[in-house]
Amino acid sequence: MTRPLPEPILRGQPCTALAPMQDVTTWEFMKVIQEYGSPDFYFTEYFRVHETSVLEKHILYSITNNPTDRPVFAQLIGENLEYIQRTVEDLKPHPIAGIDLNLGCPAPKVYKKNVGGGLLRDLDQVDRILGLLREISPHRFTVKARIGFEDTEPFERLIELVNKHEVDLLSLHGRTVKEMYWADVHYDYIAHAVSQANCPVLANGNITSFQRGAEVLKETGCHGLMVGRSAIRNPWIFRQMREHFAGEPVFQPTLSHVYVYAQSLKKALHKPTMPEQNCVNKLKKFFNFIGLSVDPEGQFLYEIRRVRTFDAMNDVLKRHLLDKGDTPFANEPYPGLVARPNRETQVKPLSQALVT
Ligand SMILES: Cc1cc2nc3c(=O)[nH]c(=O)nc-3n(C[C@H](O)[C@H](O)[C@H](O)COP(=O)(O)O)c2cc1C
Repeated sequence: MTRPLPEPILRGQPCTALAPMQDVTTWEFMKVIQEYGSPDFYFTEYFRVHETSVLEKHILYSITNNPTDRPVFAQLIGENLEYIQRTVEDLKPHPIAGIDLNLGCPAPKVYKKNVGGGLLRDLDQVDRILGLLREISPHRFTVKARIGFEDTEPFERLIELVNKHEVDLLSLHGRTVKEMYWADVHYDYIAHAVSQANCPVLANGNITSFQRGAEVLKETGCHGLMVGRSAIRNPWIFRQMREHFAGEPVFQPTLSHVYVYAQSLKKALHKPTMPEQNCVNKLKKFFNFIGLSVDPEGQFLYEIRRVRTFDAMNDVLKRHLLDKGDTPFANEPYPGLVARPNRETQVKPLSQALVT
């Protein structure tokens, strides 16, 4: 029997989660997000699991000092059973909602070690890891996966393993590992997983707005929605989803709200010991997402990507956000401002893939 998920904030609504993002979903960012409207659950950045690994202090801090009022799952990345067991032991005393296994990371330096998305090439090992985690985990035990590695060949067996080991929640990013982050998302595979898996499924990938979330929910029948990059761009997205699903008026931020959000990020991410240039570069990673919805011409993006000092950054924020404060912040990224172009896909539509 799978274990039930923690109750969502609004009982009966589809649940929402902030996707784990390395170097993004830190304690500081979790704190900022909860100020704008928490999702139902959070996931940590991944804890690396290897021979000499110890729980990374800064990730553990986001569990022991969870700055939100919502449960947090601890994500692991690794493939060795002994080291995974040790890591789960280390996590046992801490207040986590569950252990989440990363079966999706597409970075070549990661998958070449046969961890993250690389494990989708070795489902016998996934079988052993899931078996171990089910046996030793006193908490919920969840999986975050992609739909395949090169193609979707592992997909059906992956779902069978999820069922075999009574995984409590599957967060499914509807792309293969090789599709990285920019190909179209294969929601048909997510819908198929929903129909086959015995546990709740969170749909993940390009859920860019509350409207898109509602469409994906309808299209896939999923239990809930996991949002990553669009929550960096629009931290109101979880609040907007809740309002939308409750049939209430949905909050519409303007550029002056976005200016305040930018100030929250600056305050949260700035460390007095950090050199100015490093801090500016770190903030630019976040503004790069925000900029997709500021102006259709991409002028804000163009200017913010070029700043090198706090003064220059403040000037761009003031001119493009504060001075145009009444302008609505677009719900979706403006067309043409996506971070990277789409790639060719190796994935056939599910209806064709299942014809043998
Ligand atoms: C900067 C960045 C870091 C990420 N780090 C992780 C991670 O640590 N663990 C993980 O399972 N997925 C990670 N992902 C993948 C996201 O959780 C998510 O699956 C992906 O971004 C697709 O969702 P989105 O379109 O809503 O962003 C990362 C994604 C990004 C953009």
